Amino acid sequence: MLSFVVKPKTVFVCQDCGYESPKWLGQCPNCHAWNTFQEAAFAPAKMAAGISGSVPAPITLKDVDAGRKQERWPTGFGEVDRVLGGGVLPGAVMLLAGEPGIGKSTLLSQLALSLAQQKQRQIYYVCGEESPQQVKLRLKRLGPKLDLENFFLIPQIQMETALATIKKQQRKQAGLVIVDSIQTMVSRDAPGGAGSVSQTRMATNRWLRFAKETQTPVFLVGHVTKAGMVAGPKTLEHMVDVVLYFEGDRYHQLRLLRAAKNRFGPTDEIGVWQMTGHGLEEVNPAKLWTDSSAKTGPSIGAAATIVLEGSRPLALEIQALVSQSFLPAPKRVINGLDYNRAQIVLAVLQKYLRLPLFKYDVFINVSGGLQTREPAADLALAASILSSYHNRPLPAGSWFLGEVSLLGQVRPAGQLERRRKQAQSLGLKKLFNWQTTPHLRQLKLEKYQK
Ligand code: TYD
Ligand code: MG
Repeated sequence: MLSFVVKPKTVFVCQDCGYESPKWLGQCPNCHAWNTFQEAAFAPAKMAAGISGSVPAPITLKDVDAGRKQERWPTGFGEVDRVLGGGVLPGAVMLLAGEPGIGKSTLLSQLALSLAQQKQRQIYYVCGEESPQQVKLRLKRLGPKLDLENFFLIPQIQMETALATIKKQQRKQAGLVIVDSIQTMVSRDAPGGAGSVSQTRMATNRWLRFAKETQTPVFLVGHVTKAGMVAGPKTLEHMVDVVLYFEGDRYHQLRLLRAAKNRFGPTDEIGVWQMTGHGLEEVNPAKLWTDSSAKTGPSIGAAATIVLEGSRPLALEIQALVSQSFLPAPKRVINGLDYNRAQIVLAVLQKYLRLPLFKYDVFINVSGGLQTREPAADLALAASILSSYHNRPLPAGSWFLGEVSLLGQVRPAGQLERRRKQAQSLGLKKLFNWQTTPHLRQLKLEKYQK
């Protein structure tokens, strides 16, 4: 029999990223955060138990029962179902990450209400952050009818107690568990306070095991730090099955739901939402466009483009303001686009079109607070800057598509037909791309304006 004696051991764990070191360090070599190391103890008895005793044999593939194809639960919200790949998958643990106040609890409350009301699913809402009264107040704001027999609140931060409560209550039919938030959960078997790496990891592990054993879908709410990571435990991301990010600008109503990881579905889909006085509303991106721009007609410094988010074409208006600068280093404020890409486009305009942008402040925005990283938006950015600089609107019904190279050439963008279809439905008929404008030099506004 194989047995090991494992000496009691302590390790130091970075509370931000989970990096482990045998000795204390002032700065984490992994995430470079300062003073984040805390001592944590391994439980040697448990470690030894894992490797002593009889060694299990591997199993052959044919012995694995993959079961029948699992049915997903449609949530009643198309925007969520598309991102998840057809609905909630029983047994999956899904992390919903986002900045505080962005609407994570609201989104999950709406999902829960929909599943409880329309599909008669049991819901267990573990509220570690808010009191049951606060949760009820929110639910009241979202749905008028709340006399639900199958909606349970569990005001509990103690991991084991919360699990036991759910297990006791859960009848034959599996329900949906929402843990708001994973960072408030504490387990008696892990060291550290709530929100520490060891606690959050332990809690996530417990929920994972519970989800797989009982085939219950679990949503974990995770707060994101300023640096944009799931607070502390970045480690959490690779433990769970699905990682969803809920993003948006707090000062705009628009919210995007994005899958950063999905073991059972697509990762490039997005869901578009709008925060209203009575919760989140699904938004058709095409409608968003008609609401924002087309009505008012072409304006100076605005250029349209169609980017692809997953399988979905999204019409964006890129807005530029180029104004004379009185600063030694002119301002560059770029919202919604990649800063470095925008700098390249500015440099190309300066070099090949002789635009003296070094004397101008440049402000860039994407309408509605949306964001895109697609290089195909380069040409629209260049066009909007030119339009603002020359003080002339771009041609009515025009849209721009293509990446701009360092040499000023315009490159083709993929899936043109899909984008064109969307453009046409929005009344954007005149396309400028690598065929009409092989080089940025050819983007002369004088050519088609008065
Ligand atoms: P919340 O879901 O609590 O955010 P998170 O869980 O991500 O921290 O909601 C955040 C904000 O949304 C809050 O400031 C209030 C606002 N809100 C609305 O505008 N309309 C609503 O119907 C609700 C429920 C919230
Ligand atoms: Mg919340």
